[in-house]
Amino acid sequence: MCLVFVLGLLLVGGIAVDAQEHPGAEPYRQVCQLCHGAGARGDIAPALVPLVFDADYVLAVVREGYSQMPPISSRELSDDQVRDVVGYLESLFTPEQESDTDGGDYAGPRN
Ligand code: HEC
Repeated sequence: MCLVFVLGLLLVGGIAVDAQEHPGAEPYRQVCQLCHGAGARGDIAPALVPLVFDADYVLAVVREGYSQMPPISSRELSDDQVRDVVGYLESLFTPEQESDTDGGDYAGPRN
């Protein structure tokens, strides 16, 4: 089931990779997972799936920080890697999963 899902994503995305993994998965695990949790399901930081932000916004949040989230420099994560992470986060969500992502619409304190 899981493998079928991953293969489906590769086909839909037309991504020609021999590893079964999205290029953004590794940078996500190294940099974001600590706070946003495995599979971006949320931990001490809110879930990022489904991703409701575009790549430019995510890049701005990563560079500048956002409220409780510290800024992350381009030495730690390049712009391209951030875009890969965005692609990875988008790949984690398909509409059929909608029912098990309660809480995914966390908007964060806006002050
Ligand atoms: C040190 C912990 C930490 C790390 C590492 C971290 N974040 Fe966050 N992030 C947070 C917290 C906490 C929030 C919620 C901030 C708030 O709403 O007050 C957040 C919020 C966000 C938001 C939502 C901003 C909004 O407008 O609501 C995005 C997008 C995001 N993070 C992306 C990322 C990405 C991509 C990475 C990896 C490159 C990452 N974060 C790494 C802690 C972290």
